[in-house]
Amino acid sequence: MHELMTSRLSGFHKLPMSERVAKLQRMMRLSTEEASQLEGTDGLPPETANQMIENAVGVFHLPLGMGLNMTVNGKDYIVPMAVEEPSVVAAVSFAAKIVREAGGFTADSDDALMIGQVQVTRYGEPEAAKAKLLAHKEQILALANSFHPAMQKRGGGAKDIEVRILPAPEGPRGEPLLVLHLVIDTQEAMGANLINTMAEGVAPMVEELTGGKVYLRILSNLADRRLARSTCRIPLELLADFDMPGEAIAEGIAQASRFAVADPYRAATHNKGVMNGIDSMAIATGQDWRAIEAGAHAYACRDGRYQPLSTWMLEEGHLVGRIELPLALGTVGGPVKIHPGVQAAMKILRVGSARELAMVMASVGLAQNLAALRALGSVGIQKGHMALHARCVAVTAGARGDWVEKVANLLVLHGHVKVEKAKEILESLRPEEFAAATGTG
Ligand code: MEV
Repeated sequence: MHELMTSRLSGFHKLPMSERVAKLQRMMRLSTEEASQLEGTDGLPPETANQMIENAVGVFHLPLGMGLNMTVNGKDYIVPMAVEEPSVVAAVSFAAKIVREAGGFTADSDDALMIGQVQVTRYGEPEAAKAKLLAHKEQILALANSFHPAMQKRGGGAKDIEVRILPAPEGPRGEPLLVLHLVIDTQEAMGANLINTMAEGVAPMVEELTGGKVYLRILSNLADRRLARSTCRIPLELLADFDMPGEAIAEGIAQASRFAVADPYRAATHNKGVMNGIDSMAIATGQDWRAIEAGAHAYACRDGRYQPLSTWMLEEGHLVGRIELPLALGTVGGPVKIHPGVQAAMKILRVGSARELAMVMASVGLAQNLAALRALGSVGIQKGHMALHARCVAVTAGARGDWVEKVANLLVLHGHVKVEKAKEILESLRPEEFAAATGTG
């Protein structure tokens, strides 16, 4: 039997892990193999790991959780997230639930335009070299596309060139740098291999045209032609919490946003929160998260001052959140094709394209940020973190099953979340309780 697809799975967190998997299996029609990929009992085969990287000795595991309640452009998404940090998955799910009640996220994303850079030196007169390259745009594009004709046939491939003259006084003769950009539509691919092949492929022609010497030929991770944006508009009353009215919580969030705009020290932490959501989703879906990180932070600094990737404002009785960042993602190639866990994650996510993946990912970043700012701008985050931390402490002290929650609650109640205290609590139980609590019965 399969169940109706919804990301609103109330009580999901209270189910035992095996029942969570069983629920996803029914709803997403996962095979037994796909379900065991989620559980991690049947992860990446060591032979595949050995083909993926050098000096492989095994496979590294991370917890995989599901971000719930996401609705983007009217569609529900269950978001696979691989992350070691407690609260990240809960925070996304919690904020997404509020936004869902407000009508969900509205997102869009650009075509998959990426930049391949070719660095030219010792070319003589800058403007003449630039003019020569621009005059041969069609030949350069044709040569670039000859390295991947299939991509061009599908409507992608090298589309344009740009030539930039950059001051670089420390060069051998004080000459400015000449940088050729190949603007390439990589469609469903993240595109690194394709871009690098094309950049290397056109280099001899660039040298011939300019009489110069080419050094670097590589993609730029500042993927500023491939942006994703998401917004949400929340009526203030939906934000009421911690015995505080929605207006007060919203004011705290807007103040947090002002702080991040004014101060790079705060903006870095604000963006770290955004990336908590984005990276976790990127890892679970087999994306190059280092490329995403590099692009996000370079974009945050595009005006010469490091800025938050998202902002929050009070507008006509609503709290309005906006995020924009480069997201160079792929639904083909790399781990998406060979990592069975990534394939199971993608099946759960149900995105039809890299652009749709980017819209969901930007929304997850905004949700994560909302959850963080909501707590930071009101009661602080330690209260919530402590509850989760207390569970880890209870497990470390030996608690098992239902007792993990019970011992964690007692730790928080005592205000002393330490392993010794948890052990003390366990040891104060009656013998039969102790046996049940520690799984030693
Ligand atoms: C912790 O991983 C992330 C936060 O520091 C983000 C923020 O400060 O906005 C809570």
